[in-house]
Amino acid sequence: MLNEALYPFLNDLVREHRQMHCFTQALREALHTGNSCGWTVGRASEAGACLRRLRDYAREHFQHEEEDGCLEDAIAMMPTCGTSVDALRHEHEEILAALDRFQAAAVLDDNRPDYWKLFAGQIEELLKQLVDHERRESRLIAGAFNVAPDDV
Ligand SMILES: [Fe+2]
Ligand SMILES: [Fe+2]
Repeated sequence: MLNEALYPFLNDLVREHRQMHCFTQALREALHTGNSCGWTVGRASEAGACLRRLRDYAREHFQHEEEDGCLEDAIAMMPTCGTSVDALRHEHEEILAALDRFQAAAVLDDNRPDYWKLFAGQIEELLKQLVDHERRESRLIAGAFNVAPDDV
């Protein structure tokens, strides 16, 4: 259990990481269903809704991580992690830009299965990058604040 008084932002971080995981999984499942069962208008629409939800949540989540002091405090607690924190910040920009690009293209073809046939594989690659980002970030935060990895 996290010490809320010592680490006021960590509980929010944990909650947001769990929510991101749920939204990521929902999009993965929508992509998997479309790829394995065939892209219909309904499946394309479902995948579009999942992509939009994940993009909007990731934008808020990354902003919280960069503005609530979590990453700065991690460096203060463990100065050797500065380079890794810089890489995570840079990845925020990269991941958001990619999500925005896919979202913009999906809006144009919101209900058209052709879009998803073309881009589902690329979106799945981006989701792998996002999951890897969150995993490395959780390990870094757990190490910096000396909490159990499962708590982050
Ligand atoms: Fe992050
Ligand atoms: Fe995160």
